[in-house]
Amino acid sequence: MDGNGRWAKQRQRPRTLGHRAGARAVRTIVEHCLERGIPALTLFAFSSENWNRPEDEVGALMRLFLRVLESEVEELTRRQVHLRFIGERARFPEALRRRMAAAEAIHHNAPRLVLTLAAGYGGRADIAAAARRLAERVQAGTLCPEQIDESTLGQAMSLADLPPPDLFIRTGGERRISNFLLWQLAYTELWFTDVLWPDVDAALLDAALADYARRERRFGLLPGQCETAAVESR
Ligand code: FPP
Repeated sequence: MDGNGRWAKQRQRPRTLGHRAGARAVRTIVEHCLERGIPALTLFAFSSENWNRPEDEVGALMRLFLRVLESEVEELTRRQVHLRFIGERARFPEALRRRMAAAEAIHHNAPRLVLTLAAGYGGRADIAAAARRLAERVQAGTLCPEQIDESTLGQAMSLADLPPPDLFIRTGGERRISNFLLWQLAYTELWFTDVLWPDVDAALLDAALADYARRERRFGLLPGQCETAAVESR
């Protein structure tokens, strides 16, 4: 969700105002995913590198995340949106961590949308944490090193319970992944736009989906072999 700061700068307003506008765009996009029947949406809200931003911006973001959780969780639950988080949350303020845990603990029988917020998240840290988990199992004697393969490592990673993402969207003009879901994006279709995150709307999401629908996903295979591969990658 890139471009909040520039959106605010264009209006000669503080960066934090851009983040607030970004939070409104999150609501619009979640709403539209529900309308389109998209079953899973993962939003990169705060990277492990974002801790290095000026203290006042980090503080403002923490307060915004807390306010959003306080104001939105009830409505999200009513709409059968299962909210959860990935990333290292030890550095988040206690009040925020409590809200995150409470939101995650809400049980959903049949969620219409699994909404994952990546907060304190880094793709490399995700891979390292998965490797550590497997090493601990080897040390405990419950896993043999020979059993470690793409499948066991993938199962130890964030989002292991979901199919790999079909589509990655980056706003704000940069053409890079910036340490998002490095492992999980191996065969994901990438879509970039110059539109700044607060300006993202339903029409833009539809444009990305339409572009995605025109793509041929080959998973390294020949045309015709691909449908089986798509099913097997799930
Ligand atoms: C990157 O844009 C954005 C962030 C670091 C924060 C994202 C936060 C939100 C969208 C607000 C609330 C979100 C949730 C899920 C409640 P940037 O600040 O790097 O923009 P710039 O590149 O224009 O400076």
